[in-house]
Amino acid sequence: MSVAKRHSASAHLIHAFDSPARIAKSGPRTLVRGKGAYVWDSDGNRYLDGLSSLWNVSVGHGRVEIAQAVEAQIRTLSYAPTLLGFSSEPAQELARRIAAWTPGSLDHVLFTSGGSESNESVIRLARIYWKLRGHSDKTQFIALTEAYHGSTTGAATLTGLEKFHRDFGPLMPGVERIARPHCGGCELGLRHPECMLACADLLEQTIERVGADQIAAFIAEPIQGVGGVIVPPPGYHERVRDICTRHDILMVCDEVITGFGRTGKRFGIEHWDAVPDMMVFAKGISSGYVPLGGVSLSTEIYDAFVDAGHDFALSHGFTYSGHPVACAAGLATLDILEREDLVNRAAVLGKRLASGLDQLRKHSVVRDVRSIGLMAAVELATPEGSSSLPESIRDAALEQKIIIRASGDNVVLCPPLMIEESDLDRLVDTIDSVLAATTGDPVIV
Ligand SMILES: Cc1ncc(COP(=O)(O)O)c(C=O)c1O
Repeated sequence: MSVAKRHSASAHLIHAFDSPARIAKSGPRTLVRGKGAYVWDSDGNRYLDGLSSLWNVSVGHGRVEIAQAVEAQIRTLSYAPTLLGFSSEPAQELARRIAAWTPGSLDHVLFTSGGSESNESVIRLARIYWKLRGHSDKTQFIALTEAYHGSTTGAATLTGLEKFHRDFGPLMPGVERIARPHCGGCELGLRHPECMLACADLLEQTIERVGADQIAAFIAEPIQGVGGVIVPPPGYHERVRDICTRHDILMVCDEVITGFGRTGKRFGIEHWDAVPDMMVFAKGISSGYVPLGGVSLSTEIYDAFVDAGHDFALSHGFTYSGHPVACAAGLATLDILEREDLVNRAAVLGKRLASGLDQLRKHSVVRDVRSIGLMAAVELATPEGSSSLPESIRDAALEQKIIIRASGDNVVLCPPLMIEESDLDRLVDTIDSVLAATTGDPVIV
């Protein structure tokens, strides 16, 4: 793309999560087409999408059946709210299908347009739930270090990443933060299993310090994504569940990345024996084809809204809650996930990915490798005084037409669940060769 064309691409459009100055100078990479695990840019370059775009395009690009479902819905009924007494069939049907996918009694869905709106909804729904149950002081939240929950003010406050707080204050009051369950880099300086899950016990200590009568909910990604694919140890979420139950605190799982098959189970939390009271989803539910997200609530929470009687109105929701076109895309996505058995495929391919990535440990700069299903991180040690190694590896991979992401000390992979084995191997091989070229180590895999 010419410099002039690159410049005009960013003349009016704001591109986030990057330097506006850099984008204004060198322009964004404009994607124009996608098919399966591949995308093409406006210069005709083809890239292997090793990140499912933004952890979301899990059934791959260019699925005709999703396009047809969306078109049919627009032709039939382009919009209907799920507010003020109205509803639509796609919204009802998708809520029913999601309730069949989610564990336990998570049977009641409030739709949104994405992850941040969903976590914002968690804040308001948890507070109204406790108020209706006669505990109006239960308004605070406990969240993890390095968590990512979105970039609206409430969700960004629940987020535990400094760059989302710095310069954006004041944040939402009433959020306590505890160490994440990261055995490879324990913030408490302990080792698993001798630690006896001290990081989970921090939750209990925090509840006791602040007072259970002040706390609405504990929120966590079952496996942190942006934070570097942090897989908690066995027993962690069970211990959290037990603490939340004993202290009457809602347990909320943010499954925006981990939901709908990404980890080789339907939901990330299903790798543990625990069922949350609220589950947040987005990304994978529509495979990123249209904006869609939501919160699943337990029957106990939902009953509080119904028990409140006719004089109570749930004053929370969005114009696009349950947009029929978005829900049609969600239904078509679930059809593909089920028909192609993509949840099990993620489990099977996840083993292949894990063993390939394991080889990379032989590179001197690789500090750790973590994966579960088809989400993975390779943690790198950037030499003192050098620029970020993960960013160099990401850029070098992009030169090889492979899209991966740099996130903190990690490069992160999250390929579509339908990726071919050969393409999965190519992802690992490329990281290997790029690491070798960057560090002078030999190629390993
Ligand atoms: C775990 C998690 N929660 C919430 C969000 C925010 O979702 P959105 O960008 O759709 O608002 C993200 C986005 O990456 C996420 O990874």
